Amino acid sequence: MLPTRPKVIVFDAYGTLFDVAAAVRRMAPQLDGKDRELAALWRQKQLEYTWLRSLRGDFADFEQVTAEALSWALASLSLEGGRLQAPLMALYRELDAYPDAASTLGTLKQSGFLTAILSNGKQSMLDAAVAKAGLGGLLDAVLSVDRLKIFKPHPSVYRMVGDHFQTQPGETAFVSGNFWDASAGAAFGFNAVWINRQKALPEPLPGQPKAVISELSDLVTPTPP
Ligand code: LAC
Repeated sequence: MLPTRPKVIVFDAYGTLFDVAAAVRRMAPQLDGKDRELAALWRQKQLEYTWLRSLRGDFADFEQVTAEALSWALASLSLEGGRLQAPLMALYRELDAYPDAASTLGTLKQSGFLTAILSNGKQSMLDAAVAKAGLGGLLDAVLSVDRLKIFKPHPSVYRMVGDHFQTQPGETAFVSGNFWDASAGAAFGFNAVWINRQKALPEPLPGQPKAVISELSDLVTPTPP
């Protein structure tokens, strides 16, 4: 279920191939029933801090921003940071991939597509998560914002795909589980696909995805006639 036959299929990492709630879920028994709240707050603050730092021209890598967001989220939920911060960060570095990630990437590779990750993640975090999930051989590139020192949704980040593969934006299908990211990719000229796992409402931002699916494997499932 791809919008048009692209040359390259590019995936966002966190919330798209990797389940950002997995770290908190694994430690749920130690979180006083606040696991869901913590997962949501940690993610929201992590994103906010990336955007604020981009606007302020004060880049810090995704690992630092993720740690700062976690520390704030734990404190604001009166959870014990001293005991929880380090193990949660260690789990985040090797987040679980969604169960259909490897099989979907495998099918796309067999069909002859180039595949890549384009992420706000720090290169070493991305490489660790990719290796842990066994996705290394299924990706032609893992592109991190580290070199640019600015985060998505800044358009310069989406430009990295064309620079790497020597392609035009319209030759890329860009797949993201984050609406703001799919939307910015669409505005850049990619054929964007939004994975709407939570049945969220599309947002009134410039750039709308060409397709909306509910899980990664929908990319390789033939559309019914
Ligand atoms: C990523 C985060 C923002 O770029 O989802 O991987």
